[in-house]
Amino acid sequence: MRKAGSMTEAKKLFIKTYGCQMNVYDSERMAQAMGAEGYVLTEVQEDADMVLLNTCHIREKASEKLYSDLGRLKPLKAARPDLKVGVAGCVAQAEGDEIIRRMPLVDIVVGPQAYHRLPQLVRQGGSAVDTEFPAEDKFDHLPERKTEGRPTAFLTVQEGCDKFCAFCVVPYTRGAEVSRPVERLLKEARDLVAKGVRDISLLGQNVNAYHGQGPDGDWTLSRLLREMAAIPGLDRLRYTTSHPNDMDDDLIAAHGDLPALMPYLHLPVQSGSDRILKAMNRKHTAEQYLRLIERLRAARPDLIFSSDFIVGFPGESDADHQATLDLIRAVNFGSAYSFKYSARPGTPAAEKAPVEDEVSDARLQELQALITAQQRATQEAMVGRVVHVLYEKVGRKEGQMLGKSDHLHAVHVDDPTGRIGQMARVKITASMTNSLSAVPVTG
Ligand code: SAH
Ligand code: SF4
Ligand code: F3S
Repeated sequence: MRKAGSMTEAKKLFIKTYGCQMNVYDSERMAQAMGAEGYVLTEVQEDADMVLLNTCHIREKASEKLYSDLGRLKPLKAARPDLKVGVAGCVAQAEGDEIIRRMPLVDIVVGPQAYHRLPQLVRQGGSAVDTEFPAEDKFDHLPERKTEGRPTAFLTVQEGCDKFCAFCVVPYTRGAEVSRPVERLLKEARDLVAKGVRDISLLGQNVNAYHGQGPDGDWTLSRLLREMAAIPGLDRLRYTTSHPNDMDDDLIAAHGDLPALMPYLHLPVQSGSDRILKAMNRKHTAEQYLRLIERLRAARPDLIFSSDFIVGFPGESDADHQATLDLIRAVNFGSAYSFKYSARPGTPAAEKAPVEDEVSDARLQELQALITAQQRATQEAMVGRVVHVLYEKVGRKEGQMLGKSDHLHAVHVDDPTGRIGQMARVKITASMTNSLSAVPVTG
């Protein structure tokens, strides 16, 4: 049982975030909105006055996790009926009040476009569902950001997707593409830098389709990047996630022109088979993707690429799978995410006969083994090189700092005098499974 608190005691909010970086950004903004209502964040679910689950709908496993987590909340809610339970994110958008029907312990269901109305939903009490797509920009109505001294930040510049890949729920859960206006983004970036941020990742479900209103008409992502790269103190820029068809000439050129634009690019391709790419409604061929990689490498030779792959898309044959492996060999990725196809209700691909489970499992293993080998080779090639690492936290071992290189490798540095926010010159000494080790270089 909890002790009775005084009237002034802050209420506690526990947030669990699933899914993509967009959700990470949104969770941060919701925490700030609730902060204005007197809530402080807690890492202990049992202590919370409100539990908020920010969910992902992308694959069946991701969305089912919500229901198992809600099931686990039952005893807590039974012991403390005043506990508020909120569901946000893409499952909230996709399933709406169905969530409350299935799990009556849920008080609030709020979709990604309605987060600025969360405080009001909490205040009004009872059960509430808000999954509208309002015309207003939710970010305009959220309080100013805090950074808690971190030197890196996400900045959402674009939301939603108009691409309708045959397997994907995002166009339904996040809605149509909307870009935030240039001036607001530049202001948010400058504010972040003033608070000590040196590395900003621009986020969007389709970030390179950005076309936000600028002072003189619509701006593209490359123009926004060029402007942001000129902000004094902003050392690093990244953007994610991109669609190959929206990599225009100027964006490719920007990789050569802007030292602040980091040499790492996540560019999902999904498959290396033209037949499957067509069935996926990707609207590009494997060859076009390879040409794009070539042009990007010509602009910035040290670019490291990462990608997303789906194995076992309906109709995928062994030959299609081999074509994907061929593409992976041709590109040589620094890392990649790969997923077994998951049929999502409401998407066109879900109507088609699935590939057998065992076949998909075997293909996934084979693909992941190839990616792992490429990742290892990419990391090992860094050993002996001098690179810049931006310290983000203190490492687990005494005297160790942890940060990211330009190429987004996680690097552990033995540096007892290092401090968070410092851009250190270090020499890579070893490559581990998912990180590198280094020592500082003086002079
Ligand atoms: N452009 C988006 C992609 C979001 S989904 C972005 O901003 O990241 C991330 C990845 O999940 C996709 O690139 C795809 O590889 C995978 N994915 C999407 N739908 C899927 C499904 N139904 N089954 C398996 N993987 C899927
Ligand atoms: Fe989904 Fe395709 Fe849009 Fe990416 S581009 S969010 S995979 S529909
Ligand atoms: Fe998941 Fe929604 Fe992001 S479905 S991947 S949380 S856009």
